[in-house]
Amino acid sequence: MARHLITSAIPYINGIKHLGNLVGSQLPADLFARFQRARGHEVLFLCSTDEHGTPAELAAAKTGEPVADYCARMHKVQADIAQGFRLSFDHFGRSSSPQNQKLTQHLAGKLYEAGLIEEVTEKQVYSNADKRFLPDRYIEGTCPNCGYEKARGDQCENCTKQLDPTDLLDPRSAISGSTDLEVRETKHLFLRQSQMRDTLNKWIDSKTDWPVLTTSIARKWLNDGDGLQDRGITRDLDWGIPVKRGDEDWPGMEGKVFYVWFDAPIEYIACAAEWAEANGLDQSAWERWWRTEKGADDVRYTQFMGKDNVPFHTLSFPATLMGSGEDWKLVDYIKSFNYLNYDGGQFSTSQGRGVFMDQALDILPADYWRWWLLSHAPESSDAEFTWENFQSSVNKDLADVLGNFASRVTKFCRSKFGEVVPEGGELGERETALIDRLTTRVRAYEGHMEAMDVRKSAQELRAIWVEGNEYLQEAAPWATFKEAPETAAMQIRLALNLIRLYAVLSSPFIPDAAKTMQEAMQSSDTGWPEDLPTALATLAPGHAFTVPEVLFAKITDDQREDWQARFSGTRD
Ligand code: 2FM
Ligand code: ZN
Repeated sequence: MARHLITSAIPYINGIKHLGNLVGSQLPADLFARFQRARGHEVLFLCSTDEHGTPAELAAAKTGEPVADYCARMHKVQADIAQGFRLSFDHFGRSSSPQNQKLTQHLAGKLYEAGLIEEVTEKQVYSNADKRFLPDRYIEGTCPNCGYEKARGDQCENCTKQLDPTDLLDPRSAISGSTDLEVRETKHLFLRQSQMRDTLNKWIDSKTDWPVLTTSIARKWLNDGDGLQDRGITRDLDWGIPVKRGDEDWPGMEGKVFYVWFDAPIEYIACAAEWAEANGLDQSAWERWWRTEKGADDVRYTQFMGKDNVPFHTLSFPATLMGSGEDWKLVDYIKSFNYLNYDGGQFSTSQGRGVFMDQALDILPADYWRWWLLSHAPESSDAEFTWENFQSSVNKDLADVLGNFASRVTKFCRSKFGEVVPEGGELGERETALIDRLTTRVRAYEGHMEAMDVRKSAQELRAIWVEGNEYLQEAAPWATFKEAPETAAMQIRLALNLIRLYAVLSSPFIPDAAKTMQEAMQSSDTGWPEDLPTALATLAPGHAFTVPEVLFAKITDDQREDWQARFSGTRD
């Protein structure tokens, strides 16, 4: 049994995420976690809310809540929605947890001892109109790298370059739009990432199996002329983790907090400590996932994220962990995603454009969205959500192929043989050929899932469903029944077993429908089909079943048009 540590990029606390965010990290991470559990492996799947930084402060100011209350409330909102999408986190933590505070301060202390933190008196942008220092992302201007006019002070959304606010051309306050900005002196801590350039280069070079999307972004920032600059890791804000080294105060850093991007990835570790506490486990329970000398050397650690998060996960976070000189588990594989666009434009949180996670669940159950999003995951390039495509995938793949198969087989059996698996004769040539083809396909499906090729996995799963339909069409038990009822019984016995097989194989993609199929087959055997002939003989003659409710309802043209209109504007 292997051990899989799986993390999804942790969503910002402010606001509800859109479907593009979902498919860029949490959903594929869930697919992989469910698959590895189904294969019988030990999995720790973690995600949290990313609660620090100015966006949280500003969002709380808007609703009039103290920021801690705002975060607690929004954490619950996001946790409920995650549950609605059946995201199977072992723990959904919070970056504002005491565990993260302790660990962040601890790692800062270790980095300081290792000579990797420099105290710098810095010039920082102060907004006279807003009467405050402006954090990086609240300064907007033109990107010096690509010319994008709405680049933020921390990173250009267009070319993914990590920026410092003073790099921006024509800067202005994103809070008030004011250009009355001045530069004032203030002391900050810098992580000396540049010292670790060779180490990081070697590390990235050793990751020959990583997706090109991941390594190309990492290499770009490592080796570009100004690559891997030292990064400021503190901010002049009230909300955040107070700057300390271990338990000790840090002279000159009073009233300052760590930069949100310093403590956010550390929350991946802290979340494991939160998980242990929530489950009444001790420190060794989480350390065996995270400390190589305490058992984590045989863990395989996979991270999921959108491409904009790659620089922080390939450079800054590994620099933090390696630089500490401690035995922290480093990531083994980073699966990154391109962007999902929405109906001819971009999803946009600030403009409320697109379908947001709560709205999606208001109109359709999770499986419909999970199937479309995963089968169209933006892997090799950006992808686009259109209502036409969504309607056609749901209606064809889910309703016509899978749903229809389950419905035809169970209803036919009920009418001719009753609600029990019929006996029938031995499997014939057609059946053996089907099982051979399914064996090949199931092994291919496993291979794609193991490799986290999300689209290819979906295609293979669909092909496995199609095999069942084509078999049914050719075998035509409704016709066979008249001449050779024994043969029809055998065909239906196999088809009922196929429904159970589909439940097991489909459960990582569409867990609710899988459960409905499994329950209809009245089987608690969810074991992965290592051997297809055995798996397809699980439901023995005489085993009772029920006809499942409609698995997937078709999306009508009226519904599609209604939703298209409803989600074309901005959300209120
Ligand atoms: O881009 C984002 O949504 C960030 N909140 C992701 C943080 S991932 C990690 F570093 F914790
Ligand atoms: Zn740019």
